[in-house]
Amino acid sequence: MDEVSRLHYLQEELKRYNREYHELDAPTIPDAEYDALYRELVALEIRHPDQVRADSPTRRVGSLDLRRNVRLVQHREPMLSLNNGFDVRDLQEFDRRVRTGLGVDEVDYCCEPKFDGLAINLLYRGGALVQGATRGDGEEGEEVTANLMTVKSIPRRRQGSEPWPEWLEVRGEVLMLKKDFEQLNRRQTGAGERTFVNPRNAAAGALRQLDPAETARRPLAFLAYGVGGCSPDFELPDHQDALLRWLGMLGFPVAEEVRVVQGESGLRMFFEDLGARRASLPYEVDGVVYKVNARKAQQKLGFVTRAPRFALAHKFPAEEALSTVEAIEVQVGRTGTLTPVALLKPVFVGGVTVTRATLHNDEEIRRKDIRVGDQVWVRRAGDVIPEVVKVVQELRPAETVAFEMPATCPVCGSPARRLPEEISWRCSGGLHCPAQRKQALLHFVGRRAMNVEGLGEKLVDALVERSWVTEPADLYHLTLEQWASLPRMARKSAENLVQSLEHSKETTLARFLFALGIRQVGERTAHDLALHFVRLEDVMEADETHLQAVAEIGPVVAQSIREFFSVERNRQVIAHLRAQGVHWRENAQERRDVQVLAGLTFVLTGTLAHYSREEARERIEKAGGKVVGSLTRSTHYLVVGRDPGSKVAQAQKLGISMLDEDQWDKLFKGINA
Ligand code: IVH
Repeated sequence: MDEVSRLHYLQEELKRYNREYHELDAPTIPDAEYDALYRELVALEIRHPDQVRADSPTRRVGSLDLRRNVRLVQHREPMLSLNNGFDVRDLQEFDRRVRTGLGVDEVDYCCEPKFDGLAINLLYRGGALVQGATRGDGEEGEEVTANLMTVKSIPRRRQGSEPWPEWLEVRGEVLMLKKDFEQLNRRQTGAGERTFVNPRNAAAGALRQLDPAETARRPLAFLAYGVGGCSPDFELPDHQDALLRWLGMLGFPVAEEVRVVQGESGLRMFFEDLGARRASLPYEVDGVVYKVNARKAQQKLGFVTRAPRFALAHKFPAEEALSTVEAIEVQVGRTGTLTPVALLKPVFVGGVTVTRATLHNDEEIRRKDIRVGDQVWVRRAGDVIPEVVKVVQELRPAETVAFEMPATCPVCGSPARRLPEEISWRCSGGLHCPAQRKQALLHFVGRRAMNVEGLGEKLVDALVERSWVTEPADLYHLTLEQWASLPRMARKSAENLVQSLEHSKETTLARFLFALGIRQVGERTAHDLALHFVRLEDVMEADETHLQAVAEIGPVVAQSIREFFSVERNRQVIAHLRAQGVHWRENAQERRDVQVLAGLTFVLTGTLAHYSREEARERIEKAGGKVVGSLTRSTHYLVVGRDPGSKVAQAQKLGISMLDEDQWDKLFKGINA
């Protein structure tokens, strides 16, 4: 394409983007890309001035659709735009031009947040709001007085004793506070209505409502940043910061963040500071605005085409950008959680290049209807992990398919499962799954678990990559030579590591149970289990009812423990560790005192082969259990001998666990009873 064709092409494209942005509230390109195209067009128009028509996007501020049924009003003073700066060079250049223009060495600047909302003009006569309008093309805007009347922070008439000019144009930004935006989107989701990409689009939508009552339902705010014009006999404050304070005294909300600084270094400091606080501000900002503080100096500098020479908008990196979902990958986390992740066409957003964004879970994907091939808005604010906010449905290619969670773990092929009370799917492979293995190993060697010193993430990665370690016991097989051959591993460190591993073999049952990484079993639960059961075998054999006899262990935890030990592979992992010499002392004192049936209630029925009723009762009571005569919902077990009575049917009805004599006998294993 030659330069002139490119120029025409850009004129048309930018016009379309303007329309999407200003009228449809549905931009399809990121601001930064728009700005880049805009600058390219400006450069081309400078080289080809004969190609510049009056309707070129560079000659007009925003755009207007005259087909829309709205009343247009003329601003008394045009609403201009700001030149943009993106880096330190732009900022230095701005300061240099201002200093040259004014013939001074240093300039005082008023620094303000650049609010990411919609520019509006409020016209007051005799202290009463008579007209509110959007910026429109800068000369004429859409009349939205009735809608603006519903915005609480816009004064409808003067209050207090401060004198007002006969007529006054107050300029500022209508926006939606972040918290109100989130609430609105939650409400929209709840009502099955469309959500908004960001507060700016939500505010634009609210302002455009034909019915002011509808605007009133959407919480809008206003922040003033200047004056368009006022009665000529009225003397406005002579500095920008004083002007803002004055607007504050008239009752207009102004940003608390406004500061006056000296010179370019002051500008830079303000930019850094506000950038660092960006995420915690109550409203969205897309940059900062620097204005020469003295209004006399502003007038001296004047304007070029559509923007003042005395001001600069210094933009922050955009927090939202458009990208394409190239694939949806399923990741396996430490406890086997399967998390779908969008692989994106690389996109610069929030100051970094993003290629992946979490999709959380399949319900979230369904709710947002995200598909491979979709154009999506990606958001990265502050240090928060990137997110897919919304699909641009209009740009969906033909023949896309809805995402479905795989039925098996993408890493190890074990079935994926979802517990009824959870929203995430999980790999059921446990320690057998390589993805979980790495995390499980790190957990196993952790300070509060087996406490192996000097074995961090990098080393575990290296071990798993080399397939030297597939289960914890393998750590104890490795030779000094193997350890020493790993990257960045000095011989001395290898020796220390081997010694630390050797030490770790002598541990406690509580640490060992915790080290196994059983879901739901934290340090505390591991400790309780060790105290209650004393022997590992007894923990491994305990059924859910018995496990729940341990204080603090409820059905969910009990089920998880039960499941863990019922997987043959997990039992092998334990056997291998013990074969490597991992051991703990069984505390004899603890063991004598232990009340292995503490908290459990039993009912006996029928005749036992090896115990009389009385002996059976004594045996249970010695172990801390209780024997009662009749079944209630709080009975834990019915022990069933030969020729049982009607209690069996009763227990079935109440859902009470039943034990035959052998099973009952096993409850006592490891007890001196
Ligand atoms: S002053 C002649 N101050 O930025 C200069 N504008 O490109 C008039 N904006 O849509 C603008 N925060 O609504 C100014 N603190 C601020 C601003 C601000 C946001 C918007 C303005 C306009 C755009 C200018």
